[in-house]
Amino acid sequence: MGSPYLSPYEDPEAHARISALIRRHSTNDRDVRVELLRSLDLATAEHVLDLGCGFGFWAEELAGRVGSGATLTGVDACDGNAAAYVRCVESRGRRARFVPAHLVSRLPFEDDSFDLVFSDNVLEHLEDPLTVFREVHRVLKPGGRMMVSDIVLERELPEEITRSVAAFTGCIAGAALKSDYLGMIAGAGFDEVRVAGESALPLEAWSADPMAEAFLKETGLTAEGAAEALAGVKSVRVHAIKRSRA
Ligand SMILES: C[S@@+](CC[C@H](N)C(=O)[O-])C[C@H]1O[C@@H](n2cnc3c(N)ncnc32)[C@H](O)[C@@H]1O
Repeated sequence: MGSPYLSPYEDPEAHARISALIRRHSTNDRDVRVELLRSLDLATAEHVLDLGCGFGFWAEELAGRVGSGATLTGVDACDGNAAAYVRCVESRGRRARFVPAHLVSRLPFEDDSFDLVFSDNVLEHLEDPLTVFREVHRVLKPGGRMMVSDIVLERELPEEITRSVAAFTGCIAGAALKSDYLGMIAGAGFDEVRVAGESALPLEAWSADPMAEAFLKETGLTAEGAAEALAGVKSVRVHAIKRSRA
């Protein structure tokens, strides 16, 4: 697809390696997917949209929790993810559909199509997340739910980080301020916008990965300097509802 920023996601193996790191480090050795989805009742969701689905890291867990007749529709710019995505969903006995598309303007779905739209660590890669939030609102059925998990900032990042390709791929350089991010979700028309969880993203969490090495090289920061600059970086999980029609 030609973007240096997204090329790591074209290799499902490399992507899986990064995801395994996230799984191990984010919740002190508990699987982050199990932890985050545990308390949610998703059994009535039959039509599920997984935006920026990658190779199916989340879909594997999500698919086991939605309705038994559910179909998961994964959308991603990297079509090399298609086979792995379908395999992850089908391994949990659910139907899968993979739609290769760039999340830039209109989503290729009818109005009111989905019960649940899920997206993890994707919107910080987009130039115009507000348009995508509006599109998510359009394709959700009235009463449907959006669950998004993204990196947000409590304060602006220094320029050496915003210019770093490794920081962009690592979901940091393109992140929005938390207040803007929540404002965009409300501005797209959602109700009951709720921060369901938030965690810090310490450099140690991914320092075993070559991406951290590339990040330090590109930014010229020391490990201490990077830790200080990244102190306002959070991973936030937000739930929101599309209001039912009266
Ligand atoms: C950090 S990965 C997250 C993947 C998956 N949601 C997960 O949590 O494992 C970001 C994903 O977003 C996709 N992506 C980034 N920008 C995109 C765009 N403009 N349109 C469609 N997909 C995009 C990438 O290809 C990649 O699979």
